[in-house]
Amino acid sequence: MNYIGSKLKLSSFLEEAIRETVGELQDKVFCDIFAGTGIVGRTFKPYVKTVIANDIEHYSYVLNRNYIGNYTPLDYKEYLNTLNNLATKSGFITKHYSLAGHGERQYFSDEQCFKDRYYKI
Ligand SMILES: C[S@@+](CC[C@H](N)C(=O)[O-])C[C@H]1O[C@@H](n2cnc3c(N)ncnc32)[C@H](O)[C@@H]1O
Repeated sequence: MNYIGSKLKLSSFLEEAIRETVGELQDKVFCDIFAGTGIVGRTFKPYVKTVIANDIEHYSYVLNRNYIGNYTPLDYKEYLNTLNNLATKSGFITKHYSLAGHGERQYFSDEQCFKDRYYKI
């Protein structure tokens, strides 16, 4: 998952800058505070001793539980198929986080938001 504010495009720069600053990574604990999508912690996970991810939002917990906390390959195709075939419906996320809902925070595309069928306004 990617959205405005994600550090996906900065991840290579961050890795380079942090390596230059702290040197060897293998014995380091990396703290990804305000982890969001988890892309920063994921970038460092293969190289450091431990990654600690923190975020106030539950969506971030779910993402980071998988990307940071999971070490077993996940057979995700069936889950992905189910998610991709959900009926579209606007709800809380559409209202508050998309252009369609005129929310102040426009983290997600309208198409992504229309998948939020579990949250009713
Ligand atoms: C710009 S976003 C995510 C940035 C993240 N590094 C990424 O690349 O996806 C900022 C995150 O900060 C989190 N956040 C904001 N205030 C927070 C707080 N007081 N405690 C923990 N997380 C917070 C939000 O929930 C959001 O996921």
